[in-house]
Amino acid sequence: MSGRVRVGVLASGGGTNLQALIDATRSPSSPAEIAVVISNRRDAGALARARAADIPAVWISHRKKERFLFDQELVCALQEYGCEWVALAGFMRILTPVFLDAFPSRVLNIHPALLPAFPGMHAPKQAFDAGVRVAGATVHLVDAGMDTGPIIAQGAVPVVAEDTADTLQQRILRMEHQLYPMVLRWVAEGRISVEKGHVSVDAPGEQQWVWSDA
Ligand code: GRF
Repeated sequence: MSGRVRVGVLASGGGTNLQALIDATRSPSSPAEIAVVISNRRDAGALARARAADIPAVWISHRKKERFLFDQELVCALQEYGCEWVALAGFMRILTPVFLDAFPSRVLNIHPALLPAFPGMHAPKQAFDAGVRVAGATVHLVDAGMDTGPIIAQGAVPVVAEDTADTLQQRILRMEHQLYPMVLRWVAEGRISVEKGHVSVDAPGEQQWVWSDA
C-alpha cells in the first residue's frame, strides 16, 4: 500500500479537469492518487485520458436504469477500487442519497461559477449574459442539491472588455486547473473539516483562495 488517499473521478466529458488532477497526482510526493475514472459516456474523452495515464477507466451507462441503480453501480465500482474520496469533474448526472450516503462529505465537485450565483448548466454564459465583472469557479462538497453544498474554495477571474462567453469560459477553465488540484491536496492531507455547513481549511500559508491569470 502506498498510503496515499485513493480518489475516484467521475466525468462525462473531455476531462481537462481530470487531466489536471492526473498531472498533479502523478508525482510520488502527491498525497492523493487517482484509483479509477468512471464515466456514464463510453466515448468520453475523460476515459481516454485515464487509459493514456494507465488509470483504470470504467464505463457505466445510466441509460434505461433507475437513478438509484445507476448510483449503486457507481458505488460498487468505486469501492472495488478502494476509493475513499470522489471528485466529480464535469459529471453530468445528479447523485442520489444512495451514492452520497456511501461517501458522506467525501464527494467534491467543481462548478464554473462563483456559487451560489449561477448554478446549473452553462454557468459561464449565465455570468457573461448577466454582465458580471468578476467570474470564477467553486470547489464544494456535494449534497443532494444542484451545485449546492459547503464551499471549500473559489477562484476568481476578471471579465475583460474583449470577452465573449467562450473566452470567459476558457479563462475560468484554466483557473479550474489550478484550483481543483490544490483542493484535492488539502483533502488528501486531511486539512478540511466541515461544521454546520461551513468548511474550514487548515492550510497555514496556503490561503490563496483567489487566482487570476488575466
Ligand atoms: C468544467 O467547466 C467544470 O467546472 C464543470 O464541467 C466542466 C468540465 O470540463 N463541472 P472538463 O471535462 O474538465 O474539461
